[in-house]
Amino acid sequence: MTRMTRLTQDFSGKRVFVTGGTQGIGAALVAAFTDAGAEVLTCGRTVTPSPFAVAADIATDEGRAAIISAVARLSGPLDILIHNAGTQQALDYANGTIGEAADQEIAVNLVAPIRLTETLLPYMVRGGAICFLTSVLAYKPKTSAPVYCASKAGLRSFALALRQQLAPQELRVVEIVPPLVATAMTGGRGRGKISPERVARAVLTGLTAGTDRIAIGKAGPALFLDRWAPRLLSRMMARQ
Ligand SMILES: NC(=O)c1ccc[n+]([C@@H]2O[C@H](COP(=O)([O-])OP(=O)(O)OC[C@H]3O[C@@H](n4cnc5c(N)ncnc54)[C@H](OP(=O)(O)O)[C@@H]3O)[C@@H](O)[C@H]2O)c1
Repeated sequence: MTRMTRLTQDFSGKRVFVTGGTQGIGAALVAAFTDAGAEVLTCGRTVTPSPFAVAADIATDEGRAAIISAVARLSGPLDILIHNAGTQQALDYANGTIGEAADQEIAVNLVAPIRLTETLLPYMVRGGAICFLTSVLAYKPKTSAPVYCASKAGLRSFALALRQQLAPQELRVVEIVPPLVATAMTGGRGRGKISPERVARAVLTGLTAGTDRIAIGKAGPALFLDRWAPRLLSRMMARQ
């Protein structure tokens, strides 16, 4: 890392909570914020418990209660909350029974960040940031994962309304839009994936710059297409 990059990504003294930090983008965010000097707390179902990691399923009341207790034990209020944990399943409504698989996806991707936002708001510092990992699929769905796309579109909509509500309290609401990233979630599919570390670097840079929507890599051109050639983007994303 160059001296200039290090200086522009100084999060010394900041307290950060990232959901889903055991692997993928969440693990890269935890490493990047830690390297930039922040006190970082994370969670996951499979995490090894420590003062900086709480074993918790965000889709359950018990898991969310454990998270609140861990946040309360930090050295002070939260500067940055990142709703990263997520899951994606291929669900084929034309050929199969879906049942509770859809409930679980909505519980993790949509209900959990909404409920956690409410309970963690009293722990946020004035001038802090609440960040949501959405997706280009929140703008245009792909055929094979309808519930994932619906959950991300719902999350984006929640974030946009929340931004208006929290502006008077000087709390920023930030949407993070990654392109296809090489993680367990995308294993075995797609080409031209970027690394989780590149996503994390872009997030720290975007937060430092005060950007409301951090569109990373190919997500930038995709959102440009969403504005100027939405039908073309619809066709491209449906096939993803
Ligand atoms: N990868 C991509 O191309 C891409 C693109 C756009 C957006 N995103 C979004 O970016 C975020 C991270 O994705 P990723 O690719 O890094 O996923 P990933 O590699 O599958 O990692 C998911 C993380 O979420 C945690 N998690 C899942 N369910 C959980 C639950 N019920 N309670 C607590 N933690 C849970 C997992 O930890 P445990 O298993 O230990 O619980 C893991 O740390 C997601 O919101 C995803 O939708 C990803």
